Amino acid sequence: MDTHHSPAAASAGARCPMSDGTFTADPQQIYEYVRAHGPAGPVELAPGVDATLVVEHEMALRVLQNPTLFARDSRRWKALNEGRVPLDSPILPMMVYRPNCLFTDGAVHLRLRQAITASFDRLNTTRLRRDVEPIADFLIDQFSERGRADLINEYAKMLPLLLFNKLFGCPADIGDTLTASLSALFDGIDVQRANEELTASLMKLVSVKRRRPGDDMTSWLVQHPAGLTDEELKDELVVLMGAGFEPQRNLIGHALQLLLSEEGSGGSGMQIEEAVDHVLWNNPPLANYATHFPVQDVDLGGVIVEANSPVVISFAGANSDPALREARENRNKGAHLAWGAGPHACPAKDPALVITITAIERLLNALPDLALTVADKDLQWRPGPFQHALATLPVRFSPTPATRMVSARQTAAPLPAAEQPSTPAAGAEPAQQGASTPKRGFWSTLVDLFRV
Ligand code: HEM
Ligand code: HEM
Repeated sequence: MDTHHSPAAASAGARCPMSDGTFTADPQQIYEYVRAHGPAGPVELAPGVDATLVVEHEMALRVLQNPTLFARDSRRWKALNEGRVPLDSPILPMMVYRPNCLFTDGAVHLRLRQAITASFDRLNTTRLRRDVEPIADFLIDQFSERGRADLINEYAKMLPLLLFNKLFGCPADIGDTLTASLSALFDGIDVQRANEELTASLMKLVSVKRRRPGDDMTSWLVQHPAGLTDEELKDELVVLMGAGFEPQRNLIGHALQLLLSEEGSGGSGMQIEEAVDHVLWNNPPLANYATHFPVQDVDLGGVIVEANSPVVISFAGANSDPALREARENRNKGAHLAWGAGPHACPAKDPALVITITAIERLLNALPDLALTVADKDLQWRPGPFQHALATLPVRFSPTPATRMVSARQTAAPLPAAEQPSTPAAGAEPAQQGASTPKRGFWSTLVDLFRV
């Protein structure tokens, strides 16, 4: 690669920094730089957090599919255990051990994962579409009279947040707290309090569903033969939300951006599925993650990695590997690594695709003349090593009346008792709501609108 374009701090043998503006502006530059030196290379994920990044497709598969040699349990992390990693690093919450499927191996992993996959198996396409549509309508109503919107923050971000409430069967008050605390946690606002509120509301949800099971994922997890404890159930719900939130937002947001850009709308008019597939190949929602800890020193094609030091997979790098050129050109769906591979591959691939396509269809049908208000080159990207994600997606359109929810209400079936708002519509809000919560939470407003 042209040294003129090499990342500034990555001169011979140095670690590529991934949390500075270089990566955010042009992640491919980092993958190409690493690839020019081998199938994997040293990077700095964030200041003081070193890792080896795998950028070749074949090597990525070798690591992902060999759990005996490459463990996920980050209690092995030598540099962290020796006090060489800054404990206030913003990326540590994504890397330190938690007793959930992501950070466990073998039988423990299987037990936690099977409860999740069994629950996803019970969510069929019709049900999911029916759950997504009113949420999409509700969000569109929030901005449709304005003629302008930011489709990342007002749509792609909010839709998965509200959908989790629905999938988990949240009563109004719990749902409001969940939405507010999860949103605050991911935006780094008052993180400790957000975490406490999130944990408390999930524990409450688990106890509600133990007493009164419904037709929802929380109840299915509670009822699964694995016999998960309350604490384990709470951790399952956290990993579902933690894992689903950012990638789901990115997939909806980036496919919309592509459909509205010149590339998508010009000439042939790209189909939604095509745009989603393009994003999965070229800007996968989870760009770099899957932290492995080799149980002994390993040789990754000439790059020696010490035992118990992090090996991170670049899903984006693997997808752009020149060795995959033919598969990429033929749009061979099975070849890209956007959903991961091996025992920890995304268990939510099918539902995530249904959610994405339904959300996009609903928006494009409601506002058919959507147009971007910034040129592609002026789009803003969010910092951080795990994703190359849009910060905003400003659009304009012909204003339309906010009546979608009203018509939905006329055809909606009554909600099951467990999902009725727990306080009367005009009553006081529950006391535990955080300061960051809007006066009337999104979720309780939505639930109220559905009362018949
Ligand atoms: C797409 C890129 C992603 C980004 C930028 C991202 C970022 C974040 C941030 C900022 C937090 C809040 C951290 C805090 O507590 O302060 C978080 C939490 C979390 N993330 Fe991610 N995430 C991403 C993808 C994922 C994926 C794919 C998974 C799992 C497969 C995951 C699992 C989690 C979990 C379990 C938590 C909750 C940690 C806790 O208990 O507080 N994330 N993530
Ligand atoms: C409804 C939304 C989603 C949910 C609930 C979800 C859930 C999860 C969970 C629980 C895991 C951990 C599995 C394990 O450790 O055994 C996971 C892994 C993963 N997910 Fe998803 N996911 C969602 C959407 C997405 C999307 C949109 C993408 C990107 C296209 C994605 C990409 C991945 C990848 C690459 C992994 C593997 C990470 C690794 O190996 O560490 N997920 N997901």
